[in-house]
Amino acid sequence: MDLRVSVVDPVKGFVEVLLSHLALTCVLLLACLTAVRWYIRDSHRVGGFTQKHVFITGCDSGFGNLLARQLDLKGFRVIAGCLTEKGATDLRAATSSRLKTLLLNVTDSMSIRSAVEFVRREVGERGLWGLVNNAGRSVPIGPTEWMQLEDFTKVLNVNLIGVIDVTLQFLPLLKKAKGRVVNVASILGRLSLIGGGYSLSKWGVEAFSDSLRRNMHHFGIKVSIIEPGFFKTGVTSLDLIEADLKRLWAGLPNDVKDSYGATYLDDCGYENAELLYEHPMLSGYLQGYLVHGARSHCPVPTHTLWSRLGRQAFLDPPILPPFFCV
Ligand SMILES: NC(=O)c1ccc[n+]([C@@H]2O[C@H](COP(=O)([O-])OP(=O)(O)OC[C@H]3O[C@@H](n4cnc5c(N)ncnc54)[C@H](OP(=O)(O)O)[C@@H]3O)[C@@H](O)[C@H]2O)c1
Repeated sequence: MDLRVSVVDPVKGFVEVLLSHLALTCVLLLACLTAVRWYIRDSHRVGGFTQKHVFITGCDSGFGNLLARQLDLKGFRVIAGCLTEKGATDLRAATSSRLKTLLLNVTDSMSIRSAVEFVRREVGERGLWGLVNNAGRSVPIGPTEWMQLEDFTKVLNVNLIGVIDVTLQFLPLLKKAKGRVVNVASILGRLSLIGGGYSLSKWGVEAFSDSLRRNMHHFGIKVSIIEPGFFKTGVTSLDLIEADLKRLWAGLPNDVKDSYGATYLDDCGYENAELLYEHPMLSGYLQGYLVHGARSHCPVPTHTLWSRLGRQAFLDPPILPPFFCV
């Protein structure tokens, strides 16, 4: 019996299938190369976590809170910026004694300065290994015409000016450690699906991060951007967005309301927006990307984690409420 036939044939068959489906083969090859590249980059990790300090903003809830807990578990020295005393107390109760909290409002330069002093005392000569600009707000979101100037600045001050102010003030400590900055942007920094300051602010975060990466290369500082899609957290709370839309609508002059039609707001179809939440499993990947930013020798510059919301830009008809799309 010729054993070679039974061993060689399946291989030959597989090669034939690959050759006859060239497009599929290219996609598979690309996926494999991406996975290998990611594996190599992520496995090349920095050591001595226990001596490395990471400062995270917006740790009261959501991604920042999860990341603080995760990095604490991995042994990093986490300093968590919280907006509220309650957020800080709850986080301390859930983490090790290594984790320190401080109160920080990223729209207040003096508050940032106090945070820098606190962190300086903690890190000493080692400097700051990681800064994660995570704090953010979403509302007001809605049709541009419904907004006042302060509706834009409320969001821009937290999501963009706050990120710039925090980064500038922490740069000297980051330079000391040849550290890294991880900025949480959004898919909405690439696709302006909504009106208001949110997309503008996240687009600004992308631009700021890209220029910062180039400028800080000279000092060995790495800069990454994370672009989440639509995860169920505080900033994507539909109740919050809906209540704020109602506030905007109520403040409109009658002639503007008339131009939209009396039932415009009621016809928005919020129940559909529920469908946009990414699968909760993906939030595990998101956390993985954030952790990667802190511990990889060579962090990937941009992580994109959106699927459902991203597809909206190409769907016809979209499942988003009209105020997201028109
Ligand atoms: N969830 C998503 O699908 C998604 C998608 C794209 C991007 N993002 C971004 O991810 C980041 C984290 O958001 P999240 O989804 O985790 O929502 P979240 O739970 O609401 O987290 C945002 C955090 O920032 C805090 N914060 C708000 N204003 C602040 C200020 N002026 N100073 C300091 N902290 C402030 C919030 O505190 P309070 O809760 O006390 O207000 C909250 O703890 C944000 O930058 C957000 O834009 C999220």
